[in-house]
Amino acid sequence: MIMSVMKIRFSRRLNFNKLFLNFSTNVKSVNSSESGHYIQICNEKYKTDQFNNLSTSILQKINVKLLKNENHPLTILKSLIEDHFEKNFKNQYMAVDNLLNPVVTAKQNFDDLFIHKNHPGRAPTDTYYINENQLLRTHTSAHQREVLSSKLSDGYLISADVYRRDEIDVSHYPVFHQMEGIKLFSKSNLTEESKIQNSVTKFNIKEEKKGGPIQTCHDLNECDLVVNNLKKSLEGLIKELFKNEDENLQIRWIEAFFPFTSPSWEMEVLFRGKWLELCGCGVIQQEILNKTGNGDKVGWAFGLGLERIAMVLFNIPDIRLFWSQDERFLSQFKKGQITQFQSFSKYPSCYKDISFWLGKNKSDTNVNVHDNEIFDVVRDAAGDLAEDVKLIDEFTHPKTGRKSKCYRINYCSLNRTFTNAEVDEIQNKVKDIMLKRFDIELR
Ligand code: PHE
Repeated sequence: MIMSVMKIRFSRRLNFNKLFLNFSTNVKSVNSSESGHYIQICNEKYKTDQFNNLSTSILQKINVKLLKNENHPLTILKSLIEDHFEKNFKNQYMAVDNLLNPVVTAKQNFDDLFIHKNHPGRAPTDTYYINENQLLRTHTSAHQREVLSSKLSDGYLISADVYRRDEIDVSHYPVFHQMEGIKLFSKSNLTEESKIQNSVTKFNIKEEKKGGPIQTCHDLNECDLVVNNLKKSLEGLIKELFKNEDENLQIRWIEAFFPFTSPSWEMEVLFRGKWLELCGCGVIQQEILNKTGNGDKVGWAFGLGLERIAMVLFNIPDIRLFWSQDERFLSQFKKGQITQFQSFSKYPSCYKDISFWLGKNKSDTNVNVHDNEIFDVVRDAAGDLAEDVKLIDEFTHPKTGRKSKCYRINYCSLNRTFTNAEVDEIQNKVKDIMLKRFDIELR
């Protein structure tokens, strides 16, 4: 019998809170004065070491908590998804948000999910580390074990902000939001529990692939039942979210690999002529269930990117807009409604290039600076005034062997025009920080 409730009721919330590291939603920023070796995030002090690569702009974002504003498009979407699951699977999914600490251990974010030691996602160029062992979660899957260990429900919808060092353009931002769905079934009653009532039939579903190996501890039938429930649950959700779109909405399941699920897929939707990747999903590795006291269960998990979906549903062209405090943006959205964003005037772009040699001396041929490190400098200096940054030229000097790079920064404010002098000032700040941080010579 599934005893969970959709929203965490008060008593539950208390219970739950205890499990989650006394996480407080009141977030304080860097504690710089007392000691250079600690930072404060969410009322908690963390010791930093040489792995610390948090930028000021990222630390500021941790305070924002967009999902607390019920009229924000991301929260509207999150609630629509939660309501959909509640309506179709009464009391089976517990919504979890604002309770989980964005600071997790490398164990939670990677090891517990069998992400191997040399996985590129672990690199400090991709992940924000506080110290060798603590980091800002890069996905909501980092909470799978703590949530599953709580055994408060057989279904969860975990929504949270996640952090990745990334490129700068209209669809990438170093903080975004994911929703992790988890559903468990009793092995002994799987056929019954995994039945889907309102199965979607009118769908155009393409390229169904196997999704990788079935786990040796699962038999074919067991796996099929879980997979069928997973796919039908997601297809039903997509049908609901995109109900105002084309009748012939197409979905395809692309075989994928995640170390913590098998088989695994990526679900894509054909939206206005383009295939959009909306979520990764699969059958939860049994070892995760066994280790969290759920050995008598089997289950699935998915991870949805909320910005991706919100951008297409609300017609929001630039991911920076989600962080806008501009009333002209915020006042357009109301809880429960998907409305089309009406863009306010587009302000002119201003392009500035920055070229440099890697290495201060001609003989420095081994120096390199990762793109993501450059992007973080731009974020720190320009904030959201930088719309995108591109590496436009790269070459190696034929005689000295020294490398040169040139990045083009597109400065464009979402809410005002700025003067050339202002842009120059920001550009100089970018250059100053780069010179301080990297072994480079400006050209
Ligand atoms: N955590 C994965 C990601 O961020 C998505 C995922 C979640 C995949 C759950 C499978 C199961 O890419």
